Amino acid sequence: MKCVIVGAGGHGRVILDILINAKEHDVVGFLDSNTDLAGRRMDGRQILGDLSALPRLRDELGVEGAVIAIGDNGVRRDFADRVEEQDLRLVNAIHPSANLAHNVTLGRNVVIAAGALVCAHCQIGDSVILNTGCIVDHESMIGTATHICPGARLAGRVTVESGAFVGIGATVIQSVRIGYESVVAAGAVVIGDVAPLTTVVGVPAREIKDVAGADDFTDWLIPEFMRPQVSQR
Ligand SMILES: CC(C)(COP(=O)(O)OP(=O)(O)OC[C@H]1O[C@@H](n2cnc3c(N)ncnc32)[C@H](O)[C@@H]1OP(=O)(O)O)[C@@H](O)C(=O)NCCC(=O)NCCS
Repeated sequence: MKCVIVGAGGHGRVILDILINAKEHDVVGFLDSNTDLAGRRMDGRQILGDLSALPRLRDELGVEGAVIAIGDNGVRRDFADRVEEQDLRLVNAIHPSANLAHNVTLGRNVVIAAGALVCAHCQIGDSVILNTGCIVDHESMIGTATHICPGARLAGRVTVESGAFVGIGATVIQSVRIGYESVVAAGAVVIGDVAPLTTVVGVPAREIKDVAGADDFTDWLIPEFMRPQVSQR
């Protein structure tokens, strides 16, 4: 399928590499909100404009799909909605070296980077990033527009609610629930549930503050399995 990558930054480069390695889609170019970048090239692909270019690219070049290469969880979710409003498909980018159990379920606009391990019966929502070398163990549920950073390790039956961020190298023990839009710091070891909209750091992880300026994720269209089951505040 002909597709574009939305976001001409470092994460966009990673996704281009994934799609080239996966040999699944023909990446026509990048889109980026920074219109000053239009016409420039990155990694052999042209930056074709911003999201407003999508209808033209669909009609003139036959572009059918897009993957959103934006690290910010809320922006990634919003851009995914805008792509679908243009009747384009959201494409998954899964590196061939990632290892997924046969019964893992995936949403749309899912990025699984090199070396990631996703074990039996995991459910991965829309617009999720499972970054380089992370481990998501059995029966874990990873909610819409979350980011599991490089090298993070989630034990079995972990739930990560929508919009949450699990930092590089963090460890989460089994059956823990990470609340929506919370932030788990780099290297933290989480041994109990994390409340929504909070930042936790350290070993063992402790809450240091609320997440400022968070979006309201509760109106998201999220899979039934991820509907909030924790108290909201
Ligand atoms: C947790 C984090 C988001 C906090 O960032 P911040 O909001 O700017 O907070 P600050 O840097 O002001 O730190 C606040 C306090 O938390 C501590 N802290 C921050 N990050 C920490 C970490 N990873 N481990 C332990 N303590 C940490 C700081 O030392 C500071 O403590 P103090 O108040 O006693 O001085 C950030 O440090 C972090 O870990 N980000 C993850 C980055 C990452 O994984 N990137 C990968 C991208 S793919």
